Amino acid sequence: MKKKQLTFDLTVFESIDELSSEEKALMNAAVSARKNAYAPYSNFQVGAAVLLENGETVIGNNQENASYPSGLCAERVAIFYAGAKYPGVTVEAIAISAASKKYVVDAPAAPCGNCRQSISEYEFKQKKAIPIFMMGETGEVHKCNSIGDILPLAFNNSFLK
Ligand code: THU
Repeated sequence: MKKKQLTFDLTVFESIDELSSEEKALMNAAVSARKNAYAPYSNFQVGAAVLLENGETVIGNNQENASYPSGLCAERVAIFYAGAKYPGVTVEAIAISAASKKYVVDAPAAPCGNCRQSISEYEFKQKKAIPIFMMGETGEVHKCNSIGDILPLAFNNSFLK
């Protein structure tokens, strides 16, 4: 028997101002997208921006539904939109911005489990890590270097023979 310890690096930026200009532009695209979220039930608005190798940025926001489970998170709207519009184009990074109409979100909101799984499909497919930048309305920006860091031991298509 042996034990393994899984660890990962989380980079903490004090604010959006510490990001490079390219990273800041991506986060600002997520902020703009967030403002168009359709979230009348939770009042929790999320925007996501996907930067592609071809230089395009594809955005998404959460789309809720009166039948709650029929809604979709911002991250999946964005990554599926990217896959639909630019199939096979490598994803370089994703930025996520979260806000609420009920309180000030002053800490980064990390993607939910379903979104992690969906993004990891693209990471496995392209065999290149997808860094994730996360931010609330204000405060710190957190960056993980790979979606795999926050979805360790992920199920992937290597099991499907
Ligand atoms: N939401 C996202 O868009 N992304 C996440 O990673 C977490 C949650 C949305 C789904 C729902 O519309 C609202 O936030 C509250 O859960």
